[in-house]
Order: sequence, then structure tokens, then C-alpha cells
Amino acid sequence: MFTKHIEQMNTIACIKSRRSIRRYLPRKVAHEIIEELIACAKWAPSWNNCKAVRYTVVEREEDLKELADTLVASENIHIVRNAPLIFIISNVKKRSGYERDGHTSSAKGDSWEMFDAGAACQTLCLAAAELGLGTVIMGTFDEIGIGRFAGIPENEEIIALVACGYADETPKAPRRKEVAEILRYL
Ligand SMILES: Cc1cc2nc3c(=O)[nH]c(=O)nc-3n(C[C@H](O)[C@H](O)[C@H](O)COP(=O)(O)O)c2cc1C
Repeated sequence: MFTKHIEQMNTIACIKSRRSIRRYLPRKVAHEIIEELIACAKWAPSWNNCKAVRYTVVEREEDLKELADTLVASENIHIVRNAPLIFIISNVKKRSGYERDGHTSSAKGDSWEMFDAGAACQTLCLAAAELGLGTVIMGTFDEIGIGRFAGIPENEEIIALVACGYADETPKAPRRKEVAEILRYL
């Protein structure tokens, strides 16, 4: 009972204190830690438990430089240049939102692919925060170019990039709306 209470407190503190980090120390992230992050991200919920999200790690210096210089939007170049690690988040197509016979059974069609990847990204970012790592999700990049560069299989769609590393900044929390502004009771 006591342990459960502590775990819940940690989760809430982690949710509220996680910030997007755009400056990193020049310190590698050990593969043991990368694997622990993915061991957490895999517990994110997904459409019909289809488990379609995939994670590709870019960590070699020359690869990060190529990614930064040619494949991301200008506002993200400085992030990718100084991050020790980028996750390319992709989703196997035609799983999230689809039934076994291949038809989409919800009015939202295949947009659950984005939803599942979003849940996985947030789980990854929270796990990273808990382990003392900073992250930032990036949504603007050359999707076709990154697919070729990283050899992402044709049947996967690249959804986002997530930079990850030891923070070299402590950003102030951007404003959030008050609960009363975003919550309605019927
Ligand atoms: C889908 C998505 C795309 C994002 N794309 C970028 C991006 O391309 N570059 C960037 O610096 N931050 C990006 N962010 C981070 C947001 O700017 C950030 O989450 C927001 O300002 C709130 O700050 P916080 O994460 O520190 O609470 C993205 C976040 C999300 C969820």
C-alpha cells in the first residue's frame, strides 16, 4: 500500500516536472539506459494492443551531424547537433486503427497511428525524465530523407523524432491553462 502511494507520487511529480530539453551535455547515453527506456515505452497503450511503434536510435557523431545538417527543419538543427541521441519514432502501417481483416473500424480511420505513437512518445519521455534524462519531441523533418538515411522499412511511417540526453539547461515551465479552462462536467 505504502509502495503504491510512493509510486503514484513519483508519477505525478514526473508528469508535472518534465520539460522539453533542447541543450544537452556532451555525454553519451548508455545502451543499458536506452534499452530501459524502450522497456518502459513498450508498456504504452495501443490500439487493440497492436504494438506497432518502432524506435530507431541515431547516436554516431557523423550520423547526428548528417541528420542535423540535411534532414531536420531549421528550428531543430541546433537540437540535433548537440543531442547525443535521437530516436526516430515510426509506426508499422495499417495496424493502429485496423481490424485483422484490414478494415478500419473507427470513424477516425488510421489517425490512431499518430495517437499510438504519441502515447509511446510521452511514455518514453516520462521514463527518461524519471531516469534523469531530458527529451524533446520534434515534428518537423524530411520524412522521405530520414526514411532512406536510417533504412526505415517501407511499411513503417515515421511519426516523430525524439532527442534524448543529459540536460544542459533548466527551462522554465511554459504556461498551461487552468484546469477550469479545459475541464467540463456534463
Ligand atoms: C507533436 C509535437 C511536436 C513538437 N515539435 C517540436 C519541434 O519540432 N521543435 C521543438 O523544439 N519542440 C517541439 N515540440 C515540443 C513543444 O514545443 C513543447 O512540448 C511545448 O512547448 C511545451 O513545453 P514542455 O514540453 O517543456 O512542457 C513538440 C511537441 C509535440 C508534442
